[in-house]
Amino acid sequence: MKILAIESSCDETAAAVVEDGRRVLSSVIASQVPEHRLYGGVVPEIASRRHTQAIVPVVDEALQKAGLTLAAVDAIAVTYAPGLIGALLVGVNFAKGLALATGKPLIPVHHIRGHIAANYLTHPELEPPFLCLVVSGGHSHIILVHDYTKLEILGRTRDDAAGEAFDKAARSMGFPYPGGIYIDRAAQSGNPDAYHLPRPKVEGSPYDFSFSGLKTAVINLVHNAQQKGQALNVNDLAASFQHTVCEILTQRLMAVAQDRGASTLVVAGGVSANSGLRQQLQGACQEAGYRLYFPELSLCGDNGAMIGSQAYYEYLAGNLADLSLNGYASVRVDDPTQLGR
Ligand code: KG4
Ligand code: ZN
Repeated sequence: MKILAIESSCDETAAAVVEDGRRVLSSVIASQVPEHRLYGGVVPEIASRRHTQAIVPVVDEALQKAGLTLAAVDAIAVTYAPGLIGALLVGVNFAKGLALATGKPLIPVHHIRGHIAANYLTHPELEPPFLCLVVSGGHSHIILVHDYTKLEILGRTRDDAAGEAFDKAARSMGFPYPGGIYIDRAAQSGNPDAYHLPRPKVEGSPYDFSFSGLKTAVINLVHNAQQKGQALNVNDLAASFQHTVCEILTQRLMAVAQDRGASTLVVAGGVSANSGLRQQLQGACQEAGYRLYFPELSLCGDNGAMIGSQAYYEYLAGNLADLSLNGYASVRVDDPTQLGR
């Protein structure tokens, strides 16, 4: 089954054709990052406008690269939640238009389920159940993936998402948006023990995260140094921050895995590209004898292929939409009704 998938939840307009949930026939991404960088973050109104400009050429290119006409695909899939509402609506309405014009099934896909599915594209042998750490710009969750469409949230961030903490800490260090990758690069030549940073815990909720205090500690450190005219070693600070975030994520995930008897661990979302996280988790999993999966680097960030993969399993489960489908800024990843109400 060949699915044409569309993703427009944030600052990437993406489309892909994926066969049977596992084989990428084409994947096209038009990134708006250079424009949003001028403002230090995503400007929602600009994002919506750029999606409207990019969506037709991006979908056309995805079909062309797959060597298919619209008539030859079997279904249309689209990210319907969560994300920037104006951005989501561009993809949702475009997909509805295609479904109406062709009479093909319309498959709504939750963005975070898509991030998880990026692993199905990278690892053909991977199947649920598994325990998944989702770390993106907007979300940080520990999720028990019972089945492709049956998920249970076990832990979550109480404030900032991991990627958000990376980006805000990076900004204070003078790096451009989105700063996660700049911290990753700077950390390669820094000393992770140079700065001692807080490792906040959430009282009474051992599986939850909190990154806002850690982020603020970095920002305060930078401001204090600036005010006193003191030099700060950015590589050391980046390495210390990255090490601390990754240690928190690794410890939480390993604790949940042990409690739940899970021995297959999966990581997903933009921050799954982080080299420090990969290293720390690989070390911990090797020691514990667990299997560990990450998406290939090109599939860690937002893309259409991951939506096309998850769409196949939503289709098999009968999770289809009609033309009343709407976009939603926030919907729980484990919501079986898939609606933001
Ligand atoms: O999953 P994603 O592309 O978008 C959302 O759904 O939010 O995640 C984007 C986030 C940004 O915060 C970005 O800085 C972060 O992923 N990121 C990284 C790295 N690459 C991307 N964070 C740390 N290290 C990286 N190498
Ligand atoms: Zn994402």
